[in-house]
Amino acid sequence: MSNLCLNNVKGLFHTMVGIDQVLEKLSTVIDPDLKKDIVSMGMIKDLELNDGNLKFTLELTTPACPFNVEIEDDVRKAIGDIPELKNFDMNVTAKVMEGRSLDADTGMATVKNIIGVASGKGGVGKSTVSLNLALALSQTGAKVGLLDADIYGPSIPLMLGMKDAYMEVEDNKLQPAESNGLKVVSFGFFAEQSHQAAIYRGPIISGILKQFLVDTNWSDLDYLIVDLPPGTGDIPLTLAQTIPITGILVVTTPQDVASNVAVKAIGMFEKLNVPIIGVVENMSHFICPNCSEKHYIFGDGGAKKISEEFNMPFLGEIPLNSGIMSGSDLGKPIMITNPDSPSAEAFRASAKNIAAQCSILAAKLQEEMESEGSGEEPAPEASTN
Ligand SMILES: Nc1ncnc2c1ncn2[C@@H]1O[C@H](COP(=O)(O)OP(=O)(O)OP(=O)(O)O)[C@@H](O)[C@H]1O
Ligand SMILES: [Mg+2]
Repeated sequence: MSNLCLNNVKGLFHTMVGIDQVLEKLSTVIDPDLKKDIVSMGMIKDLELNDGNLKFTLELTTPACPFNVEIEDDVRKAIGDIPELKNFDMNVTAKVMEGRSLDADTGMATVKNIIGVASGKGGVGKSTVSLNLALALSQTGAKVGLLDADIYGPSIPLMLGMKDAYMEVEDNKLQPAESNGLKVVSFGFFAEQSHQAAIYRGPIISGILKQFLVDTNWSDLDYLIVDLPPGTGDIPLTLAQTIPITGILVVTTPQDVASNVAVKAIGMFEKLNVPIIGVVENMSHFICPNCSEKHYIFGDGGAKKISEEFNMPFLGEIPLNSGIMSGSDLGKPIMITNPDSPSAEAFRASAKNIAAQCSILAAKLQEEMESEGSGEEPAPEASTN
């Protein structure tokens, strides 16, 4: 008899847990990058509460978010604070946010984020960084494309060991080649061009880039990384003016900072109102293979100084490592051949920071669109039984 009573009381308690109470608890979890709670960001989906049994999907803004584990832990703690719940079942997924206005770009409406990789001068490692970042993002589960926009000197085919690859044309669209899960487009795939110097004038070069962008069947991509030639010439300008892009990633080396060349590239994109995602310093330091200590042989803190001066995020530092260079020369990128190395870890950390910045820019864009009255407030999809 007393048991029956207790069960009844317990049952009463369970029915007393309401969706509102659950959402209130979940609202205490803040995304550290977006600085907003996960409920108002629309990250809670398919919520079901049935007699004290709670089920929902936590949809993160990118599989490469540096705080994914932290957010998941915070959600578990918040839900753990509701003692009346009998069961709790959480499915964690990620859906990359759109960091560019797809409405304004019907030609590339299936590509959620476009990241241009630029530098002030040549040889700082843009192509190396573009490729390994693309691979690092892809290894988190994101769908990634890599556009080698260096029409004068395409280097991505060599770095991926794809010298014999080519692109088909189907239904008037270029079909990207594929390597290690990446969709890859490069002028180097046109066999007749790859051994000749590209001596085209600006408008032709711009035309080729436009075709690579909008006449390619990219299919659904979370991130398209665009490896740019150095400086502020026709190609970076065409990218900035042809389509809305998420932003520019600036690659510098410690020496680059001293000669101030990165500043010119940053200035050009700022003038064109293209967001700067942040700066990555390449060949930043040397990690001693014996003691694992970092040696800043070219000086410390250069890229951090630029990032502070221009008020843009510092997104990572990549060591100077002979394995990175030999891997590139042999068509075997370090993210594939040695994913546990400190160099690969550095690319992975930078990739996560870049993905986080893309989510921040996407959230800003979403807010702007909402304030213009063209968007909808994200709301959790909830149902009770
Ligand atoms: N972190 C690194 N450690 C060692 N070598 C590196 C590193 N990053 C790049 N390199 C090497 O430096 C050289 C230049 O790199 P990369 O071609 O990526 O530069 P880039 O900025 O794309 O050059 P360009 O301006 O000509 O397009 C290559 O030989 C590459 O393997
Ligand atoms: Mg290059």
